[in-house]
Order: sequence, then C-alpha cells, then structure tokens
Amino acid sequence: MRSVITGTGIGIPPHVVTNEALARIMDTSDEWIRVRSGIQERRYAEPGQGSTDLGVIASRQAIADAGLAPSDIDVVLFATMTPDFLLPGNGPLLQAALGLRDIPTFDIRQQCSGFLYGLELADLFIQSGRYQRVLLVGAEVHTAFMPWHLGWDTLIGQSNREITEAERAENTTVRDRTVLFGDGAGAVVIEARDGASGLGTIRLHTDGTGAGVLTMPGVSFKRRPFVSHEQIRAGETVPVMSGKDVFRSAVTLMPQVIREVCEASGLAVKALDLVLIHQANLRIIEGVQKALGLPPEKVPHNIERYGNTTAATLPILFHECRQQGLLRPGMNIVFTALGSGLHWGAALYCV
Ligand code: UT7
Repeated sequence: MRSVITGTGIGIPPHVVTNEALARIMDTSDEWIRVRSGIQERRYAEPGQGSTDLGVIASRQAIADAGLAPSDIDVVLFATMTPDFLLPGNGPLLQAALGLRDIPTFDIRQQCSGFLYGLELADLFIQSGRYQRVLLVGAEVHTAFMPWHLGWDTLIGQSNREITEAERAENTTVRDRTVLFGDGAGAVVIEARDGASGLGTIRLHTDGTGAGVLTMPGVSFKRRPFVSHEQIRAGETVPVMSGKDVFRSAVTLMPQVIREVCEASGLAVKALDLVLIHQANLRIIEGVQKALGLPPEKVPHNIERYGNTTAATLPILFHECRQQGLLRPGMNIVFTALGSGLHWGAALYCV
C-alpha cells in the first residue's frame, strides 16, 4: 500500500505587499531584499483572517481536487507555527469549518519542517492501515507578529497616514526578519493506493541544541505572566533569528538528508527529477541545488511571489508544480525543509 497525493489546494490571501511598500515603513530596499533573499513580494491576510481560514480555503480545494467530499476524510494533520489560538489548535477549528466527521485532528508544530513531519505521520497512518484518507494542511499568518501599531496597516490600504521617524526606526530594528515572511496555506489529500506512485523513504531529524537560533522569546509559559505589554514593546513577540547560523545549517543539512534518502532508496541524486525545497531564501535554494550538483530547472521555486510561508511553502510549491504540468507519472521528487527546532528532513515521492 502506498500513500498517494490525490488532491492539492492553496489558500492565498488577497494583499500583495511589494518590497517597495515595505521600504516606505522601514529602512530597507527592493535591492537588499531581492539580492539577500530572492523575495519580490509576499501576501498578507486580512486582519481577522487566521491560518485556519486560509487552511480551510486550501483544504476545500484539495478535497474537491481529489474527487472526495469532506465526509470522506479520516484524519486531519494541521501544521502551523501561527495558530489562531494557543488553545485549542487549528485542527478542531478546521474540522468544524469544513463540516468533517468527528475524526481525530492533530496539530503539528515543527515550523518550517511541519509539512515534512506531516508527510511522515500520514504515511505511517496509511501503512498501518489505521486511516485511508489523510488531509494534511500547512498554513501561516505571520503578519500577526509584525508590529502593527507602527503603521503596518498602511501596507494593506487600511490607512494612508505618514509613518513617523520613530516608527520607522522601530520597524527597522526587526527588518532582518519581517521582510522575509508572508501568509499562505497549502493542503494535500493523501490516500492509500496500490501501485508504484506514492511516498517513499522519509528521514526526519531534530537537533535541540540549535533551538536558540530561531525562537520567539515572548508569549512564553516560562514567563510570569506569560504575555505582557513589556514583551510586546520590547519586540519579543517577533521571532528572533541568527540568520547566518540557520543559513549555514540549511545549506549543509538539507543536501545531506537528501543524500541519505537517496542512498536508502537505492537512487542516485542525479536521478531525482525535481527537488522541492522549503522556500526560506533563494540563496539557500540555489546553495542546496549546487551542493547536489543538479541543474536549476530541477529545483523550482516561488519564493519571489510569496516569501517564506513556513509550513505552507512545500504544499503551495507542490500544488503550483502540478498546475504548471511539471509533474509527470514516474518522476522521483524529493521534498526537503529545515527550520526552527532545529528540525529538518527529506521525503521521497514518486509521482
Ligand atoms: O524558514 C526559517 C528558516 N530561516 C532561514 O532559513 C533564514 C536563513 N538566513 C537568511 O536567509 C539570511 O541570513 C538573511 C536573509 C536573514 C540575512 O541575510 P545575510 O546576508 O545573512 O545578512 P545579515 O544578517 O548579515 O545582514 C547584513 C546587513 C546588516 O548590516 P551591517 O551590519 O552589515 O551594516 C544588516 O543590518 O544587512 C542589514 N539588513 C538589512 N538591510 C536592509 C538586515 N536586514 C535588512 C533589510 N534591509 N531588511
């Protein structure tokens, strides 16, 4: 029995925010953002629109694409680092919004690697015979952690006031992270099927000694109280990242785990038809591609249009590759990601 992706969908929010728009509220430039990250624009959700809402849009599309009804789904896996609430998770909210049966829902919080961890669970569920139809969702609304009180509403046309110098200076203190992220969702339906197509070897890793390189210090149950005005004022609700450390890990560990997966599958790296890499930085994507000795056309990307959507990058990219006709039966694809945790991994998939 194989775990086959039979439906895909995406939830792309309405507001396009260009690099030039960001440069109006902080000291940054289109050139810096493009050269350092490859990002040209990203999408922002409406205020009040959460990652569940985007996940619902993507899921409806994926379920219909698979030719199924919501009542056919046996289990939900929802990966996000930006849930609507600390509790409950997005799983039950999505279940209610889609009108699913009272099936189990799991919330996955492996950040950028959330979709990969979801693939592993989906495959184990299907291999064990426990469930036949899995809905796996990756969705994020990162804009919630942007400092909205500093004029971010101007970016989505909700205000056209001038930013003060003090606001501009404050926005600039978080520019290294805020310019990278966007909102979005992707969903896949994974079904048990006989045949050659489906998920193959999956390898997942965690190195908790690297937990500090990408973390959000504010809103923590180690704090008393767990959230305060001071934390917000100090910018502690914006993730803190040691960009260079994450970059170094990404360009080293993703090629390594892809080799591990290929070796375990008896497949040469050169035999991979497509490598779908977590969309965090175009320089990372190109670094992994070069480290593997693959031509650029085998490594599609869409970071230029969406920025980093964390758990949503891989399902959005897979959906777009499918839409563009890049996936042909028999192709060997590998998904890979690395992010906060550190968590990383790779999963082989035969179309
Ligand atoms: O998905 C989660 C995993 N995350 C990642 O994989 C991200 C990994 N890291 C990266 O993608 C890169 O490290 C960044 C894009 C975050 C940063 O690129 P970098 O080449 O490492 O730049 P840097 O942090 O060394 O900053 C270089 C300069 C600094 O100025 P000085 O100190 O050289 O004068 C920064 O202050 O660029 C400045 N800078 C900016 N300038 C304009 C930082 N952010 C900005 C900005 N606009 N937005």
